[in-house]
Amino acid sequence: MATILRSLSYRYQWLYDSISAVAALSVGGIGRFHRLPLADLPLGREANVLDLCCGCGQATQVLVQHFDRVTGLDASPRSLGRAQAQVPQAHYVQGFAEAMPLEAEQFDLVHSSAALHEMEPEQLRQILREIHRVLKPQGYVTLLDFHPPQTPFLWPGLALFFWLFETETAWQFLEADLGHRLGDLGFGNCRQRLYAGGSLQVLQAQKQGGGGLGGGGLGGDR
Ligand SMILES: C[S@@+](CC[C@H](N)C(=O)[O-])C[C@H]1O[C@@H](n2cnc3c(N)ncnc32)[C@H](O)[C@@H]1O
Repeated sequence: MATILRSLSYRYQWLYDSISAVAALSVGGIGRFHRLPLADLPLGREANVLDLCCGCGQATQVLVQHFDRVTGLDASPRSLGRAQAQVPQAHYVQGFAEAMPLEAEQFDLVHSSAALHEMEPEQLRQILREIHRVLKPQGYVTLLDFHPPQTPFLWPGLALFFWLFETETAWQFLEADLGHRLGDLGFGNCRQRLYAGGSLQVLQAQKQGGGGLGGGGLGGDR
């Protein structure tokens, strides 16, 4: 079931966008949904920004309103074609997030929206390392994705959504403590904000200077 509905929602963008718009009502609409990760980031228009797993440009559309240099990366040529048509202000690269065809230490911000829950656990580990690699020292990562709801009555709705549109990786993702993972990779200043009864998380963290992995323990401020 999940595979069919997911592939349908990827085939028909109106379906994907409609589902996203309904889900985003819980945080005040799709515009606010995509702006939440950018709150309080001390970055100017000149920042070099990567929208990782950009899809058809849903978050890219908001990023180009704030930044002059935005790159979207996605594995899907079809999605990239749509993103190029809808958000031509950005530059696009086809590639895998776990092995980005991008030079190290070039971005001030790497953002990923509603994508990491689709990754296998080992793939997710590699992607976080890649995010660290392509960020400049002191650069920021912002991640927006699912989180275990804090109130029991939200679990049935989330479970139904996962059953219809997601796979096992979304359940595995709920157990991934991204804040501590980022800390182990050398990120600091981690801030986690929860929305929609805790079912949505926004993580912001900053790559610590000097590069290299290890150290920098941190946690979310739940
Ligand atoms: C749920 S969509 C999210 C799209 C968009 N970021 C948004 O906010 O709606 C997930 C995207 O991740 C892409 N994707 C999945 N696995 C990927 C990978 N390993 N590397 C790069 N992109 C990937 C898919 O092609 C898809 O466009």
